[in-house]
Amino acid sequence: PPPDDARRRQSSRAPSKSKSRNSSVNGRLGAEDFEFGEILGEGSYSTVLHVTHRATRQEYAIKVLDKGHLKRNNKLQTALAEKNTLVRLGSGHPGIVRLHWAFQDEWSLYFVLDLAKNGELQSRITRMGSLSTTCARYYTAQLIDALDYMHSRGVIHRDLKPENLLLDDAFRIKVTDFGTGKLIDIATQPATKTFVGTAQYVSPELLEANETSKSSDLWALGCVVYQMIAGRFAFQGLSEYLTWQKIKQLEYTFPEGFDEQAKDLIKHLLVRDPLERLGAGPPGSTHDMAALRAHPFLASIDWATLWTDPAPSLE
Ligand code: ADE
Repeated sequence: PPPDDARRRQSSRAPSKSKSRNSSVNGRLGAEDFEFGEILGEGSYSTVLHVTHRATRQEYAIKVLDKGHLKRNNKLQTALAEKNTLVRLGSGHPGIVRLHWAFQDEWSLYFVLDLAKNGELQSRITRMGSLSTTCARYYTAQLIDALDYMHSRGVIHRDLKPENLLLDDAFRIKVTDFGTGKLIDIATQPATKTFVGTAQYVSPELLEANETSKSSDLWALGCVVYQMIAGRFAFQGLSEYLTWQKIKQLEYTFPEGFDEQAKDLIKHLLVRDPLERLGAGPPGSTHDMAALRAHPFLASIDWATLWTDPAPSLE
């Protein structure tokens, strides 16, 4: 068979069979420019599928949102907000799923995204029971780096959890699902209201004052670090209500043998006052982003090569 790039060049020259609504006709991309493959995930308003761009043979994930369904449930604005968030994040960070193109037809909105071939971090945790300390440390560092980037761009994720942390072909993290993300004014960054995320990762300030800020993502980070190492939720009640009670009372305990430095990190993230969380302080303070990166649990992390170093084995 011809080498990969030869085939690619050949196929990009090959005329397309489609007669109308084609990129070669109107200069814009459409669904017909992709070969649709298997379903990768399904949400309430969207389906994510594996696609191959016909012209380049490049693989992507495509998020398809049904316009009628969005309209009937008043979610059109949410879908547009997700697109705007992805556009604001641009192509600037390896740990965040990138939007390559967005287009629409009569029925659907389409977001062409980075494909993360190794699926959700959640499935890894479930399959393995829990992650090794080395592995948890690596994903904690990648998540901090991605969070720092999105926060610097004025984006709050608001629904961080292992289901929204995908793993690419090199088992590096890609944060996805900005459907509940919030764009804040980069200059003033006021707290924002209304959206409530997944019960186990919701911050106390959201439950009590209905407020979220960047710091709510740091609370969720604490919950994710706990879950990677313990293999279970930090806060889990028999109902959503009881889970929320535990969060408000900061009622959680570490299992026997939990890494001491990881414990210390989590204790400094699962803090009731959002302003006091590690990473939430203003630059130069004792609990700013630099202090979070410098936490002893992360001492062995080389931040300069974090996205080029091979991922530790998941074993
Ligand atoms: N599931 C949801 N989004 C995905 C993506 N971008 N890549 C792979 N699987 C996904």
